[in-house]
Amino acid sequence: MHIFIIMSLCFQFQRTADPAFIPQVPTVHQSFCVFQPISPEEALEEENILKSIAWPKTSSMTSLKNSSNPKCSKFTILPKMGGGQWYIGDQLEVSIIMKDYNCHPKTSGGDFLVASLKNRNLQAGVSGQVIDHLNGSYTAVFLLVWEGQADVEVILVHSSEAVTVLKRLNWENPDRVSFKSVFRLGSVAESTVCNICLQPTVQPVCNFTDVCTGEPWFCLKPKNLSCDTRIQHSKGDYLLPLKTQVDKLFMWFHVQSSFLNPLPDQPTDNNSNSMFRPSGFYYKGVWESLGSKQMYQFDTEFNLQTQKTTGTRTSPLLSLDHNNRILVTYDCHGPPLQYISIATSQLHYIANKLDSIMGGSNTVVALSVWAHFGNFPLEIYIRRLLSIRRAVLRLLTRAPDTLVVIRG
Ligand SMILES: *[C@@H]1O[C@H](CO)[C@@H](O)[C@H](O)[C@H]1NC(C)=O
Ligand SMILES: *[C@@H]1O[C@H](CO)[C@@H](O)[C@H](O)[C@H]1NC(C)=O
Ligand SMILES: *[C@@H]1O[C@H](CO)[C@@H](O)[C@H](O)[C@H]1NC(C)=O
Ligand SMILES: *[C@@H]1O[C@H](CO)[C@@H](O)[C@H](O)[C@H]1NC(C)=O
Ligand SMILES: *[C@@H]1O[C@H](CO)[C@@H](O)[C@H](O)[C@H]1NC(C)=O
Repeated sequence: MHIFIIMSLCFQFQRTADPAFIPQVPTVHQSFCVFQPISPEEALEEENILKSIAWPKTSSMTSLKNSSNPKCSKFTILPKMGGGQWYIGDQLEVSIIMKDYNCHPKTSGGDFLVASLKNRNLQAGVSGQVIDHLNGSYTAVFLLVWEGQADVEVILVHSSEAVTVLKRLNWENPDRVSFKSVFRLGSVAESTVCNICLQPTVQPVCNFTDVCTGEPWFCLKPKNLSCDTRIQHSKGDYLLPLKTQVDKLFMWFHVQSSFLNPLPDQPTDNNSNSMFRPSGFYYKGVWESLGSKQMYQFDTEFNLQTQKTTGTRTSPLLSLDHNNRILVTYDCHGPPLQYISIATSQLHYIANKLDSIMGGSNTVVALSVWAHFGNFPLEIYIRRLLSIRRAVLRLLTRAPDTLVVIRG
């Protein structure tokens, strides 16, 4: 028999004083979001991260006509350096020229392009590296890794103008994904708006900042109930404060597709270090790693017969494989979780959850944190990861044999 009891180490409710307060309207602030305090070392790290991912500046948009238009843009496969046939292990270069809606070449960079080689029949795919020359031209670099046809695919995920708009929205409208909480006492129930980035208000606010991790979270105080009666968290609406013209910038496009046929093997000198090496690729639907780490697909290794859930698609979920003695539990992350609805009693920050795990050589922890942070300033995502990293380090200190896998 396996009894699994999870106790969050830290209960943030049941403090003596009601955590409601009347907020001060922030003075000169770039954002109305509350950033979790971090140490000077972490602040330096954050600064370096932000610098390393800084996006090229785009000129402010004068007209939609000046933004990148995938329909006019073109790419060409450059001939092999030194000429001759393509072989596996060769580096393929593709030149991409971006144009605007007048079909004039762009003169600045910053378009978010994703390039890949694909062969759908072979269920094969490998991603390329896109180099921005900051003058409207880009180079995509690929490693040829399979024999047979390879289609080049370049996708404009967002034009540089759209990237600029999104960046601005993350400061000005980080609350465009709204959240709600239900408060209930007996037959009295109220629902109020919650966020990390709660619009400045003179109404009383409940401070649900997590006392263990310091992660900020606030809700407007219900009129007739105390902050301690919060029972449910849910995603509200997606508000898109976009003008229709600007809206047009947010489109996915296949720029163009073209193909070539690499030939097998061949001892080409790989001019080693200058080569772009992806971490791996798909071939016949299976991931082939090019790095040192071998990957396993768990679902083919064991059979999770007994799935028990709470009856909703939110966590906690639990699965047990009796024969192989494997127990899998699944928990979602804390706010700003964008799920339909979840009981606040089940809303755990990953760092607190990690603190409740004993760890050891028979424990694997898999983490994935990303999409629900997309509408906030990057600092919020970075600080969340810093707080998770502190908890991972605590876990690895008390149980160094624990395997922690982080999906980026
Ligand atoms: C923007 O487009 C207009 C025509 O629609 C053109 O006259 C102008 O030069 C373009 N500006 C830039 C910066 O490309
Ligand atoms: C070139 O790269 C390919 C694929 O990674 C590898 O199999 C081959 O051994 C390399 N050739 C040389 C000469 O290093
Ligand atoms: C853009 O920059 C690249 C790299 O410096 C250069 O090779 C290319 O000719 C430039 N293109 C234009 C249109 O200026
Ligand atoms: C909210 O609570 C946290 C921790 O209890 C505290 O550090 C923070 O100053 C409070 N925030 C506001 C705006 O009162
Ligand atoms: C709060 O209680 C008062 C008096 O019972 C009632 O009139 C009012 O509608 C309640 N407000 C909310 C938001 O439930």
